[in-house]
Parts: sequence; C-alpha cells; structure tokens
Amino acid sequence: MTTAVPVELADAVLASSVTNGLLLVEEGLRAAACAQHEVLTDASVHLIEAGGKRFRPMLVLLAAQFGDPSDERLVPAAVAIELTHQATLYHDDVMDEADTRRGSQSANSRWDNAVAILTGDFLFARASLILADLGPEAIRIQAETFSRLVTGQVAETVGPRPGTDPLDHYMYVVTEKAASLIATSGRFGAMFSGAPPKLVTRITAACSALGVAFQLSDDILDVTSDSAQSGKTPGTDLREGVRTLPMLYALRTAGPGDERLVELLNRSELDDPALHAEALSLLRAHPAIEIAKADTRRWAQEARAEILRLPDVPARAAFEGLCEFVVERTG
Ligand code: IPE
Ligand code: IPE
Ligand code: MG
Ligand code: MG
Repeated sequence: MTTAVPVELADAVLASSVTNGLLLVEEGLRAAACAQHEVLTDASVHLIEAGGKRFRPMLVLLAAQFGDPSDERLVPAAVAIELTHQATLYHDDVMDEADTRRGSQSANSRWDNAVAILTGDFLFARASLILADLGPEAIRIQAETFSRLVTGQVAETVGPRPGTDPLDHYMYVVTEKAASLIATSGRFGAMFSGAPPKLVTRITAACSALGVAFQLSDDILDVTSDSAQSGKTPGTDLREGVRTLPMLYALRTAGPGDERLVELLNRSELDDPALHAEALSLLRAHPAIEIAKADTRRWAQEARAEILRLPDVPARAAFEGLCEFVVERTG
C-alpha cells in the first residue's frame, strides 16, 4: 500500500531535490533493515515494502530547503526518522492487536508478537546507529523524542487520571505520541541543512501543530475510512477502548437519541463484532465527526500561520500544501 504524500512540488529544482532525496531514503531504509538473522531481515523489510506515505522523511527534506538541501546529513536523518516511526508501528500493532498495516498483514499477525516487538527494537537500534554518525545532539533529540512518544503511548494506555478532563488528556496524548516525532522531522531537516536557529524553532513549531492535525485526522479516519483507503482495520480504537476525539465529542454532546451509542462507548472494549459494527455505524453518522474535523482544520491553520512566517521559497508553498493534505487525506 504505497500512498506517497500528494504534495505539489511546482518548482523544478525543489521537485528534483525532494524526489532524489526520497529515492535515497528508500535505499537507506533497505540497507538499515538488513540483519544477521533472516527472520529479522524479513520482518524488517516487510513494512518498508508494504509502503506508507513517507510523510516524515518528506518533512525532513522540505524543511531542509530553508538551509542547504544538499547537506549529506539530511538523507541519513530522514532514514533514521522513518526507522523510528516504523519501529513504533511494529510495537503499536502489538498493543492494538492490529492485524493489518499499510494494506498488508501486520508483523504480529504475519509472524507473532515476539517477532514484531523485536523487529521494532531492532529498527530503533538501527536508527540510533545512523544518528550516532550525525553527532550527540542528533542522538539526544531522538532519545528525548522517543521518551515523549512512549510517555504518550503509556498515557493513552492508562487513560486519564481521575479529575482530569478527558479532552485535555487526549490532546496531551496526541502531542506526545505523534506530534513529537513529526516536529522532530522538521527540526532535523532545518537543523542539518544549517538553517538559522530562528527558522529551526519556527519549523519545529509548525511541524508540531501539523503533527497534532495529522493524528486528529488519523483518529477520524479510524472511524470513517475503509481499509482499502487507510490500509488499516477501521474501528481499531473503538475495539481497543481508546477514546479518541470523535468519541469524546459524541459523549460530550450526547442528546436524546444517543443513548445506545453512549452505552456502547462506555464499555471498556468492543470485541463483539456485531456490537462493534453497530457502534461504528452510529459514530459515523454522529455530528461529533464534523466537530472533530473542525478541530483538525484549526490545528492545520495554526501550522499554516507559522509556515507563512517562513521565507517565501518554493518549499513554503509545499508546506502549505501539507496543511491541506492533513485535513483532506483519506489514508
Ligand atoms: C501512522 O502514521 C501512525 C500515526 C502517528 C497516526 P502514518 O499515517 O504516517 O503511517 P504510514 O507511515 O503512512 O504507514
Ligand atoms: C499510534 O497511534 C501512534 C504511534 C505512536 C505509533 P494509532 O494507534 O492511532 O496509530 P495507527 O492508527 O495504528 O496507525
Ligand atoms: Mg494503532
Ligand atoms: Mg490510528
């Protein structure tokens, strides 16, 4: 399921720089996936070959356009970011008991949980190895980012503490588990291209807001999309009892006629296929979806406002295109 990020690269120099960069990233990913044991190699190559949007490497390469995009640290940085991302996907599919990823069988389903966990660990180690050559600052940022990501995943798993607003908790989870790595993608691109520190900060902030919008749209797509579009099984969050934005808004705005949906959402898990299908269809038809979409648009707007403060080079228009992509995407 290869669904590359559809972003218009109108400028020929920009287009060739980003396209070449992405090809080199693919080579780097394959090289990094080679292990001493054939099962580890097979399981590592599995998701790389299954596709994915390469949203984060694209961000590294676009952010690099605000400095010197030919700096040789950029491709390894983009490879390390994508490896870190893919490592989290292997682990996330174990936690979510997901059987489909990128339109293919998930690693936990194709092999088992042990292989999926170890493959995630391996890819994370390979990312660290690449970053070690880029210096201690790169490793430090990756470690901080990964700590935030894991903290977000734990917060999601444990759920809100008593007395905490579920919506505040949700926004915290999204910022930590997803926006952190997306922000670091932009930061690496700006940093390793030698862009001025002020631009590094601005690009990081823009990508953080973009990252929040990206996860909000992922959570909406988990409800609204079919697996042919997303490459994942719809309703996974609902089944696992993870309360995402559409569910939180459905509970918050529930009125007469919503009793059945509220009852289903209040169950800790929805394993029963008939109940799961019923809840999914009620949620799809609920106005909560539109409220959640409005939030996604607001976060994309916030990213756009930050992007418009960047120098007006062709990459800036491409960044603006990404703000539309995160809102409009279907997979
Ligand atoms: C999925 O990320 C995990 C989230 C943070 C939502 P992507 O939607 O970027 O997954 P791929 O890389 O395209 O498969
Ligand atoms: C997980 O969020 C984000 C990660 C840090 C991997 P999701 O559980 O919503 O990601 P998908 O939908 O499985 O890709
Ligand atoms: Mg998941
Ligand atoms: Mg999801």
